[in-house]
Amino acid sequence: MESIDKIKAHYSFTTRDAQNLKGLLPLMEMHKEAFPKEFYQYVKNFEDASKYLKDQETIERHQAALKEWFKNLFSGEYDNAYLRELERIGMTHVKINLPAHYVNAAMHFVKQYCGKILRKEIGDEKERLYLWGSIEKILDINLDAMTSSYIEEGRRAYFISERIESYLINFARRFSYGLNLFLIIGLVLMGLTVLGLFVYDITHIFAGDIEKGLLGTLGSLLMLWVVIELVDTEIKHLKGGKFAIKVFIGVALVAVIRKLLVVMLKAEAVEAQFTLIAAIAVLGAVYWLISKIE
Ligand code: HEM
Repeated sequence: MESIDKIKAHYSFTTRDAQNLKGLLPLMEMHKEAFPKEFYQYVKNFEDASKYLKDQETIERHQAALKEWFKNLFSGEYDNAYLRELERIGMTHVKINLPAHYVNAAMHFVKQYCGKILRKEIGDEKERLYLWGSIEKILDINLDAMTSSYIEEGRRAYFISERIESYLINFARRFSYGLNLFLIIGLVLMGLTVLGLFVYDITHIFAGDIEKGLLGTLGSLLMLWVVIELVDTEIKHLKGGKFAIKVFIGVALVAVIRKLLVVMLKAEAVEAQFTLIAAIAVLGAVYWLISKIE
């Protein structure tokens, strides 16, 4: 647990800042009724705000709590009890699963709101900037304390121990990267084998079996295309891109097309040809659907 003295030191928050804030209390108290209302005008633009502020009772409780919090910003008393209270508020937000981003964005609003009051009420620019410095510090301290609850909660979510688990995760990450490299080597070897198959199929043409040679060459070219696609996808994946499931369907599609080309050479295997055509139609439809989604 941090102590308020350490936090104050990190934000260069001095007794002068505390006095400045206390001096602003009468002015800010005049706006404490309007504050929660404007806060809500702002927050209601967050897409999921209603998920957290789900009924009138919760909203009224939150508005009353906000009013109190706003007033306490200018109390001039910032001790360890104040810090613990901020952490408690943060924990309330964590417990309801409120995204930390919402709290950050709402704090941005509070900054703008206080700035607006100062610009309206404090004519002297030098004094205004001086007071603004103190407001900025206390709001930053508030945000720090409130969001630290999110970090604490994240840290607490360990099964055995933080050290062992982060070691395991790092190991698994490296292992998976190693496997991916192995996969790429396998794919390159596969590419070379398909090239060999291509050469072998061409020899059929020169041996006089032109039909078998041409269909075989076409099949091996299709396979080469698939290997290229697979290598490409794997490289993109290693560079952090999304994995394209479409490629797997492509592999199956090409394998069946190649099989069909081979079967077509045998005039008697008509039934097998129809089965393969049906398989191609289904795989083609799946390929098309996935392409649309991806
Ligand atoms: C500067 C930002 C915010 C401050 C200072 C703040 C302040 C507070 C305070 C003081 C409480 C009462 C905590 C308790 O007594 O346990 C609270 C609770 C709560 N806050 Fe916030 N809040 C902020 C942002 C938000 C936002 C953006 C949302 C939702 C979109 C939100 C939703 C809630 C809810 C649902 C509760 C629980 C209310 C209840 O059931 O009593 N807060 N907040």
